[in-house]
Amino acid sequence: MAGAKALVAQSLTPDGIKVVERDIPTAIPGTAVVRVLAAAIGPGHGYLATHEVPGFSFPVPSVYGSNAVGRVVSVGSDAVSIKEGQLVAIDPFTTARDDSNAEIIVGLMDSGEKKAQKLARDTWRDGCWQSHAVVPLENTVPLDEDVLVGKHGYTVEELSIILRFGVAYGAISNVDIKAGETVIVGPATGQFSGAVVEIVSALGARVIALGRNQATLATLQSKIPRVETVVVTGDVEKDAQSIQAFGQADAFIDCTPHTVHSQPSHIQSAVLSLRKRGRIGLMGAMFANISLPYSYMILNSLQVKAKWMYTREEIRRLVKMIEVGTLKIGKEAGHRVYGKFKLEEYEKAFEAAHTHSGWGALVVFTP
Ligand SMILES: NC(=O)c1ccc[n+]([C@@H]2O[C@H](COP(=O)([O-])OP(=O)(O)OC[C@H]3O[C@@H](n4cnc5c(N)ncnc54)[C@H](OP(=O)(O)O)[C@@H]3O)[C@@H](O)[C@H]2O)c1
Repeated sequence: MAGAKALVAQSLTPDGIKVVERDIPTAIPGTAVVRVLAAAIGPGHGYLATHEVPGFSFPVPSVYGSNAVGRVVSVGSDAVSIKEGQLVAIDPFTTARDDSNAEIIVGLMDSGEKKAQKLARDTWRDGCWQSHAVVPLENTVPLDEDVLVGKHGYTVEELSIILRFGVAYGAISNVDIKAGETVIVGPATGQFSGAVVEIVSALGARVIALGRNQATLATLQSKIPRVETVVVTGDVEKDAQSIQAFGQADAFIDCTPHTVHSQPSHIQSAVLSLRKRGRIGLMGAMFANISLPYSYMILNSLQVKAKWMYTREEIRRLVKMIEVGTLKIGKEAGHRVYGKFKLEEYEKAFEAAHTHSGWGALVVFTP
């Protein structure tokens, strides 16, 4: 029968990946089948799909790809709202229905914990780098096509940024950012961290964006309202003074990447710049440990909260912000689609995604 195809990782090795013909699945209760229109490729995803990487547990054979926009082609009999033909974002953050502690990111990683591994291995193996994805019904996020495509003129490739924004919004909601507040974001120039800057600004707060690169920070400042910038020198006290020049901040959202293996200086500089009862939100996937100015935090009653991904409610609220127009995406926002690739072009696609790794960059499969 066939009619569908998938980029299958048969082993996590450079030559373990290939395009395979498949039958188009039909949705059973609890699922939707989505025709994938644009599936995002993150800067490190090509490497992760072809190499064993500690910390990224992932069953094989399976289909990689953790984020897409597509059109529903069939729904299980228990669907009461999602309909065939509807445009949706595929949310990969999946929770076991009988145990909310077992969470996986379908098409990217499980946590390595036993129950999460079972969920990924036995049922939700396959992500979005395929023409037809079987998705848990509750992980189809409805998109108002008339508004997003019709009114705002966004393309499906541009809409594939929704998941990235969802992650950023999860971290922001976690520390309850409000209009009028001043929020330090550091680093601020990557794909997820830049999204944090955009959403904090869209919520009506002011951002103090930290980074090492003056030119990249200047680009953010030119595109996003209410952004101040501080170039991090590595001198904790000096950088804290530069941040404090904008007044005391209400919150700090840390976005340190996993490639950082020792304490980055900006964390202390940012924490020392918070007001009493300020909030610290951790969202970076850094594997290294950090030290914090303990007595300053106690004397100032600072709160620390970490966040992995987002809640189902948060990703839907984020979509509303884009639909209403509070949060802009696409060309107008400074985002750019650097490449659209067929599944067969995966080598070129991985290279493009790796090259275009900064704020607002998108590379997608259009299977
Ligand atoms: N919590 C979650 O659920 C979740 C989900 C997805 C991703 N994440 C994590 O969110 C974090 C932010 O993502 P991202 O896409 O913005 O990260 P990224 O692009 O990998 O890095 C962000 C910025 O970090 C700075 N940087 C890189 N190496 C550095 C170093 N050695 N010292 C200091 N700064 C350095 C760079 O900025 P400059 O060159 O401008 O300084 C870079 O633009 C990552 O850790 C990611 O894994 C978390």
